[in-house]
Amino acid sequence: MKKIEVLISEEEIKKIIKEISAKILKDAEKNKCRELNFITVLEGARRFSEDLRKIIFEETKGKLNINNYNIKISSYQGTKSRKLKLEKEIKENLKKKNVIVIEDIIDTGKTVLFLKNYLLKEKRVASLKIASLLSKPSRRIVDVKISYLGKEIPDVFVIGYGLDKDGQFRDLNYIGFIK
Ligand code: IMP
Ligand code: MG
Repeated sequence: MKKIEVLISEEEIKKIIKEISAKILKDAEKNKCRELNFITVLEGARRFSEDLRKIIFEETKGKLNINNYNIKISSYQGTKSRKLKLEKEIKENLKKKNVIVIEDIIDTGKTVLFLKNYLLKEKRVASLKIASLLSKPSRRIVDVKISYLGKEIPDVFVIGYGLDKDGQFRDLNYIGFIK
């Protein structure tokens, strides 16, 4: 078994999620929102999304409608570049809704670009913001505006807290990398 180095502890993850939820709620209040519509990018962001929504629910005591829609994107290597494909669509009508996409990590930014096109052009959402637990700015190919960001990390492949390597390590309560 290879050794896993801790990059972000369980405590730090909790703190980050509290900070993100506070920012989302501050904006929601400022914009007089009555509902929050989240789009969770499976599988990686599932845990982060659940914990974030739990805190937001507790903080607002159910006064805000919190909706969540799951989406799944698969990527495969094409002849020239990595291709993205919708694996699980959103059936519900999102026309004219303001949505917040919840991602685990923004790497090249291509997944977010793909999602933006889908949500704005096909689902016809009114606006879209990005919440991401992690970001690797040094890897960016496509420019992405992250409205709610947990933490910037260096160019290492991270695992844990929903993030996997070949389907493994999602259940770790911290985020780390294999040495
Ligand atoms: P992007 O399209 O290059 O921004 O890649 C984003 C997706 O790649 C994320 O949603 C993750 O699923 C995956 N990914 C990128 N970096 C990592 C990592 O360090 N650990 C686990 N998954 C990653
Ligand atoms: Mg992801």
